[in-house]
Amino acid sequence: MKKIIIASDHGAIVLKDIIISFLKTKNCEIKDMGVNTEDSVDYPDIAILACQEFNKGGYDFGILLCGTGIGMSLAANKIKGIRCAQVYDLFTAEMAKAHNNANFIAFGGRVNYSVPVTEMIDKFMNATFGEDRHIRRVNKIMDIERKC
Ligand code: RB5
Repeated sequence: MKKIIIASDHGAIVLKDIIISFLKTKNCEIKDMGVNTEDSVDYPDIAILACQEFNKGGYDFGILLCGTGIGMSLAANKIKGIRCAQVYDLFTAEMAKAHNNANFIAFGGRVNYSVPVTEMIDKFMNATFGEDRHIRRVNKIMDIERKC
């Protein structure tokens, strides 16, 4: 059973509910870190909470949502250990796992995607990471945290 963390700002609460319903059909354990109203919040605050929770360990991956997916991914990628990919179709969903071993994926609740977000999540969940050259490249990404 996959354990998944999910969090949103006010720009994607409907999408969050759709995703949670989908993940339940896949028997995932879900940690919902809010928000659940359209009251305006600042997405970096939500990203920090979700990423810190993820970094406690035990989660397979996380999903961050805002109006575009941009702000959440920018904020998340500032946090140690996080590789958050903005996924926008089935190809990038698969590559985010297979090539980048993303531990978060981000979507926008105000974006018109060509495929349902749930299909992209399914693609990501079923992809595998592990080819040598991709491990080397992801290790180099993580080295940036130490060097820069
Ligand atoms: C909130 O209005 C909006 O800026 C936020 O959800 C997100 O799209 C930022 O990247």
